Amino acid sequence: MYLLETRALSQRFGSFHALRNVALQVRPASVHALIGPNGAGKSTLLNLLAGATRPVGGSIWLDGRDITALPVHRRARLGIGRSYQVVRLFEGLTCLQAAELAVQRDLPWREWVLPAGRRRVREQAHALLQQWRLGSWAEVETSSLAHGIQKRLEIALALANESRLLLLDEPMAGLTTQERAELADVIRELARDKAIVFVEHDIDMVMALADRVTVLHNGEILAEGTPQEVRAHAAVRAAYLHKEAAHA
Ligand SMILES: Nc1ncnc2c1ncn2[C@@H]1O[C@H](COP(=O)(O)OP(=O)(O)OP(=O)(O)O)[C@@H](O)[C@H]1O
Ligand SMILES: [Mg+2]
Repeated sequence: MYLLETRALSQRFGSFHALRNVALQVRPASVHALIGPNGAGKSTLLNLLAGATRPVGGSIWLDGRDITALPVHRRARLGIGRSYQVVRLFEGLTCLQAAELAVQRDLPWREWVLPAGRRRVREQAHALLQQWRLGSWAEVETSSLAHGIQKRLEIALALANESRLLLLDEPMAGLTTQERAELADVIRELARDKAIVFVEHDIDMVMALADRVTVLHNGEILAEGTPQEVRAHAAVRAAYLHKEAAHA
């Protein structure tokens, strides 16, 4: 049984076919990489999964339920979280304050306006920071954090509310080697009970981190499988890995 499935999903911009008949299958509690050359349709697919845009054809299923017509916030309530490519944090807040905002975001106000509720929000915010290994920055203002830590905090905040499915568009971009390794650890840990769909250009990172890999090319799925299967796939080598090697 898949947590997330798309059936014949298609997207068009004018007469340009950005995605054609995409059948993506994401297993629960797994790391699923989405790879492919620039313009392959990776971000377009994530936007459709998150509900930011509507497809011109096909459907999206979460846990056997058709969510194709649901807007972003309804999908968020069903457990779909996403991070953005550009860091967006409020100025002037500490990490803990930012985490509290994220925790209370989807709670009815009665749940957090009274002192007992506030304490619960604070505890959950602390737990969120711990889970993402951000505990030691709790009292630090977000604007004075290193870029890699900001990125991690942003992902943590996006996913504060018990997401079952996380959509991460190039979460490693702009991070140092050390920060990438740390984020990879966090993703692995999260995948114990969540599905993570992430876009990544670094093939070595994909091979090390992913349980499954889907290769997009010109808006179509070129291959799907374990990292080993995909690496051995002749068409993938020709269309993508070879090009990557040539760039290196
Ligand atoms: N809103 C839009 N209007 C018109 N064309 C678009 C729009 N969004 C994406 N496209 C086009 O659709 C194709 C797929 O874009 P997409 O951003 O999904 O690629 P990608 O795989 O994420 O690439 P990259 O690796 O560069 O991020 C590209 O040719 C892009 O120019
Ligand atoms: Mg993209």
